[in-house]
Amino acid sequence: MEDNQVASHYSNTKIIDSILSGLDRAGIGVAKVSVDDLGPVDEFHTGGRAATEHLLEDLQIDTYECILDIGCGIGGTSRFLADRTTATVSGIDLTEEYIEAGKILNQWVSLEDRISLQCGDANNINSESNAFDLAVMLHVGMNVEDKATLFSEAARVLKQGAEFAIYDVMVKKPTQIKFPVPWATNQSMSFLEPVESYEEYLEGAGFSIEKTVGRGEFAASFFRNMLETAKEADGPPAIGLHLLVGPSIKDKMQNFSQAVFDGLVEPTEIIARKL
Ligand SMILES: C[S@@+](CC[C@H](N)C(=O)[O-])C[C@H]1O[C@@H](n2cnc3c(N)ncnc32)[C@H](O)[C@@H]1O
Repeated sequence: MEDNQVASHYSNTKIIDSILSGLDRAGIGVAKVSVDDLGPVDEFHTGGRAATEHLLEDLQIDTYECILDIGCGIGGTSRFLADRTTATVSGIDLTEEYIEAGKILNQWVSLEDRISLQCGDANNINSESNAFDLAVMLHVGMNVEDKATLFSEAARVLKQGAEFAIYDVMVKKPTQIKFPVPWATNQSMSFLEPVESYEEYLEGAGFSIEKTVGRGEFAASFFRNMLETAKEADGPPAIGLHLLVGPSIKDKMQNFSQAVFDGLVEPTEIIARKL
């Protein structure tokens, strides 16, 4: 599978214009926009900001100096981490438009000096070794076939004893899901694995597993809420993932939520530590 196939799945040249019109609808001027205002559009994973907070709740995030956000998208988690800590945050992502939009959003919230976003491949991270105190990776592994290399790269750039917080959609029942889903247009760019395979690859790369948490119930209730709200509302919310994903969001979320309701996949957290 080609990297550019993944990048074109996510590609959207109108991200900033769409977010601007969403902010306008919400009555929020760019001069006043906050990291929290952007949360509903820039945290592109199941459950958004609430899921990020849950993933990181047991970590001492205010003690880190250098954090890496692998597959950072438009940088929502990077901005959240920079906003809540004094750390510098580096984000890398394959999709150039996401990185370019993310840099503009960093400026809007005056965090451009502490966040650097860079276009790059998680399997070949452009960083020196032993550089980071924490790496996070939210809803990215589903696009990466070679997870052994992915986790060796994460191990290489992390300092000894550093944590690696993962939140990915993982297989619960090995059966075909319906496409498109938010991370893939079709099967050729979807590399779902069960939590046991993640654990094996992580241990093989030199991590110990500190904790794994299935978030299936959280995801199901998140989707039920979303569907209920959509039924009652007159159109999408002013600020939401539709601004990032475009009109295909409806089918993608429909198929993904059904796979969660049917117990075929489960968003799952893993906290690992580099030995
Ligand atoms: C579902 S989005 C999640 C983005 C972000 N982590 C978040 O939660 O908002 C998946 C992201 O992974 C990126 N991605 C997929 N494969 C990648 C790879 N090999 N290297 C870097 N980024 C990758 C995509 O470009 C996309 O931005």
